[in-house]
This record gives sequence, structure tokens and C-alpha cells, in this order.
Amino acid sequence: MKTILTGIRPTGHLHLGHYFGATGNWVKLQDEFDTYIEIADVQALTDNFNNPDKVNKSVKDLTIDLLSIGIDPEKSTLFIQSMIPEIAELTVYYSNLVTISRLERNPTVKTEIKQKKELFGEKGESITYGFLGYPVSQAADITAFKGELVPVGEDQLPLLEQCREIVRKFNSIYGETLLEPEAYLSKFPRIKGIDGNEKMGKSLGNAIFLADDEDTVKKKVMSMVTDTNKIKIDDKANPDVCMVYYYHELIGNPNLETVCKECKNGERGCVACKRELQEKLRDFLKPIREKREYYENNPEIVDNILKEGTKKASIKAKETMKEVKNNMKINYFE
Ligand code: TRP
Repeated sequence: MKTILTGIRPTGHLHLGHYFGATGNWVKLQDEFDTYIEIADVQALTDNFNNPDKVNKSVKDLTIDLLSIGIDPEKSTLFIQSMIPEIAELTVYYSNLVTISRLERNPTVKTEIKQKKELFGEKGESITYGFLGYPVSQAADITAFKGELVPVGEDQLPLLEQCREIVRKFNSIYGETLLEPEAYLSKFPRIKGIDGNEKMGKSLGNAIFLADDEDTVKKKVMSMVTDTNKIKIDDKANPDVCMVYYYHELIGNPNLETVCKECKNGERGCVACKRELQEKLRDFLKPIREKREYYENNPEIVDNILKEGTKKASIKAKETMKEVKNNMKINYFE
């Protein structure tokens, strides 16, 4: 069975963008692969170092989200990054193998720096050493567990390429030690927001969270952007520019063809269409909400899953660390 390693930053609850873009897929992959899922709190701290409470709270929130969508601790090893010190240790050794200019040229990092500048201005928050180096730390995440496949979205591909470079360089200097991982691209490109933005994101304020209650979801559906050319109830509209239609499709409404036809023919009003989506979303979220309630009422079960997963992950990371130290000749008294 091949090993899959993936990670997610604890910076808030999961939304539909995460679910359809990545985490929903992990639920299927865990049946086929030896799956490791890292709650990347150290990585989250690279841009939330001044907000430790947020990261702390999000570790549990996110774990409950993942369990609620069907991540099964019998099949997936869920663990906390900061509790595996070997990852930090590997990061230090790998950092010798990466140039600063290479990190600055990493497209994912470049985009994030640009976004930061837009948010804070040129003279605002400057880029920290830790932030610039997070791709190195992510390479340690993957290689510590000998991850063979890394399920990622397109935006993460440059990080994986950087990891592969580090692995090749390491192996060429110190001898065959690390495994070169491959990307396992998710089928879905990024998921749009309810406002029609190309990306659903918490900071963009256009997300539906799996933890949203029914009323909140209803309101969000009502606020979804529809075809602005449709004014009267029987105007013909274009479903391709309508977010309500987009989500009908995304969550797999079996009635999709009818929705499309009626929309195009002016036989369906937007409000009725939204009501149908509210119902479909309620059905979709129902089992997730039930599981969430169970885990929220049993926090000790959640803690145990994290503790056990971290224990298991730790054993694997220690094995890798030993090989790394041997091959780097920093194994003095053995
Ligand atoms: N960078 C990923 C994100 O922002 C999270 C992550 C951390 C990750 N470590 C990883 C993804 C290792 C894949 C493999 O979503």
C-alpha cells in the first residue's frame, strides 16, 4: 500500500471549498492508501505567529471537521505537526540545500508575498525568515513519513516541486535516503465563492462552512450571485454565470438537468431555485452535522485520536531521522 501524506493549516473551520477541492477526496483515498494527515500548526504559525489562540483553537475545530466528513482514524493517521520535533529538525538540515533566491522564485510563495503586500502595503508586514522557509518545512513534513503521493490542489504544485528538488539534492550528497514524492492532483480545480469570486476563502468572506448552522447556510444561499440579466421571474437566464446553479452541480443535485433546462427557459424563479439548493445543502450537511455533534460532545475521543495518531506518526518520523543522521554523519556515539 502506497503512503499518502497531506497536510492542512489549522486557521479556522473547513468550508465547501476545502471539502470539494481537497479534504472530501481524502475520505476516498484513505481506503486505498496508508494515509497520513498532518494538522500543520507550525506552518499555520508562519503567518499567524502573533495569534496563537486562533491556531490553538483551530487544531481541535479542524480535527472535528475532518472526522465529521468521514476521515476515519482506523484508516488515516491524524497528527499534530508541532508534536513531531523531527520535522523541525529535518527542516534545519534541508535549509542548507535551498537557496534564498529559489524560495523567492517559488510561484506559491511569490503569490502569497504579493497578497501580503496588497493587504499590508509595501511597507507593511515584511516577510519573515520563517515564512520564506515554509516550503522547506513542508518538504520535511512529506519526507519524514516517506510520503509517496501528496494529494494537492494546483496551487501547491510548486511546493511539491521544491520538495522533490530537496530530496534529489539530499540523496546526491548524502546517499539514497529520502523518497521523492509525486503529486496526486485533485480532480476539481479551485472552488468558487458564493459571490462568484474564483476562489472560496475564509478571508474573502464568501465561504459556506461545514460548521455553519442551517439558518446561516440559508442566508448565504439567498445572497448568492445569480445571472444579473434575469430580472423578472420568467426571464430566461444563463446558468453558467449563476452561483446557485454552480452549487447545485457541485453538491451533485440529481435534478440538475431540470434545473438547467428550467433556468434557460425562464421556467424557474431564482428564489425557488435557491430554496431547492437550501434543501439539498441541508441533506448534504445533515450527516456531517450529526457526526460533529457527537465529537463535540465527546472531546476526549477527539483528543485520543490526535494523541494516538501523533504517537504512530512519531515512530515513523524517528526512523527517517535516524537514517538521515546516519547518512549525514551526525550520529556521533552510535
Ligand atoms: N501548505 C498546505 C496548505 O496550505 C498545508 C500543508 C502542510 C501540506 N504540510 C503539507 C500539504 C504537506 C501537503 C503536504 O494547504
